[in-house]
Amino acid sequence: MSTLTPPRAEHFDPASSSAWQALERHAEAQREAAFRVSGAFVLDPERAQRFTLEAAGLVLDFSKQRIDGDTMRLLVALAAERAIEARRDAMFGGARVNATEGRAALHVALRAPRDAARRYAVDGVDVLPAVHEELDRLRTFSEQLRAGQWRGHRGQAIRDVVNIGIGGSDLGPRMVCSALRRWTHPGLRVHFVANVDGADFDRVVATLDPATTLFIVCSKTFTTQETMLNAARARGWLLSHGVAASDLGRHFVAVTTNLDAAQAFGIAPERCFRFENWVGGRFSLWSAVGLAAMLAVGVSAFDELLAGAHAMDEHFATSPLAQNMPCVLALLDLWNHYFLGAASLCIAPYAEDLRELPAYLQQLVMESNGKSVAVDGTPLTVASCGAVFGAAGTNAQHAYFQWLHQGTSSVAVDFIAPLAPTGTSADSHRVLLANCFAQSEALMRGKSADEVRAELAAAGLSEAAIAAWVPHRCFPGNRPSNTLLLPALSPHSLGALLALYEHKTFVAAALIGINAFDQWGVELGKQLATSLATALESGVIDTRRDASTRALIARARVALANHTFD
Ligand code: F6P
Repeated sequence: MSTLTPPRAEHFDPASSSAWQALERHAEAQREAAFRVSGAFVLDPERAQRFTLEAAGLVLDFSKQRIDGDTMRLLVALAAERAIEARRDAMFGGARVNATEGRAALHVALRAPRDAARRYAVDGVDVLPAVHEELDRLRTFSEQLRAGQWRGHRGQAIRDVVNIGIGGSDLGPRMVCSALRRWTHPGLRVHFVANVDGADFDRVVATLDPATTLFIVCSKTFTTQETMLNAARARGWLLSHGVAASDLGRHFVAVTTNLDAAQAFGIAPERCFRFENWVGGRFSLWSAVGLAAMLAVGVSAFDELLAGAHAMDEHFATSPLAQNMPCVLALLDLWNHYFLGAASLCIAPYAEDLRELPAYLQQLVMESNGKSVAVDGTPLTVASCGAVFGAAGTNAQHAYFQWLHQGTSSVAVDFIAPLAPTGTSADSHRVLLANCFAQSEALMRGKSADEVRAELAAAGLSEAAIAAWVPHRCFPGNRPSNTLLLPALSPHSLGALLALYEHKTFVAAALIGINAFDQWGVELGKQLATSLATALESGVIDTRRDASTRALIARARVALANHTFD
């Protein structure tokens, strides 16, 4: 660990970066040499091993990226020039790396063991005792509730838990519940309400019995419009189903940094689980925000999730840049985006239970790194992160993989596969893995006109037919992908995987001088929505608003006036 203060010069200017310019020359030379990954495999029998890393039980094969040894050397030189190790150490050391909010970003402390060798401190105060005190409260509560000892207003055990939260207060626990489905309690159902669209709340409560339902109001700020509105609906639903106001406390707990607001809502302090401001929303799964997940999968599985993340933290904190998995992933992203023109990243988990992962990573990456200015407020001189999207394979293959293979945009792909099956059929799992490996191979190899011609000739087609078919059946190939293997989809490997992407996101931001930990870009829409909600209700529309928005409001008011709510 080198220094606890982040380097001051945050602005990154490629024009004055010798490492960046070396990469530009290298990319140009690669283009001139018509470098093909498939050819590189033929020339170098060691390539797969050379470009594979192992950390915290995960295997990253990045040999299908459009790289050679020089590419990696130059990328690592850029990471060194950008003082990635010092910035990482500053984050682990509790420095206020979230400069625009004046906060540390010490989510790594949330998964550190009680007796960690490393010290996790903010403003000189060791945070681990408080972190573990709260974890212990969560564990006790989870065990009681899972054992049927936490009872509703009629004295019945809680059977349904509804997490009300949005963004970072929803996506993490929601994803863990589906990823670790096989660990979930058979007698306890965990549901999620995020959207302010009333249909979301209606859908979830439709099958619930108020007497056996517990709501978790999960909000870092306890001011988020959607969450507060859904929490108020939950209170109304309970009251209208015969729960006395004095009994409401048995059906609510809160997860927040804002205890006063939770109390003002009516949730007593002993029913509040807290976390600190130095935990960003999208990095908060490991805090009390993970309560819904802990209830679903149990304390020991949740502890394993933390342990997996901690193992990746230690790898990130101690490995040299060239062998540092999060760092290498971020550098490959940078190479694909800025030098090969593949800005977007497709997340392709080959595990149905990981179907919520792309949405989780979307917030993690795009809310963190979708910025136009550097930490010091100067405009970025390079583009910010590209789009992150995805869906579980093999379903995604039948949706947009056509675009990945033959579209004119180049898109990088992260294939993620657990080696052990999560389902009960060996045949299904073999076919699943075969498809995963086939896709990365196809993206890399492509198919040349000669290959297509030979194939069609062998099938007996005429010369004229072959000439007509060839352009449609060629694949350019040379499209970059990573393959991340998990030994199995377990709490430990999931924790490691999520921490890997968290750190990768941080490094990607640091490479171009962004603060990954603020999200000012969500504020304007929130402000306008508040005033528009008033306008929708009152009909008083500020004439300075644009004509489109005024007309939309007017149409919506007519529709609302004509609608009868049940
Ligand atoms: O979308 C903006 C955001 O602030 C996210 O960063 C956050 O995860 C989400 O809203 C929810 O915020 P809160 O937990 O304060 O309700």
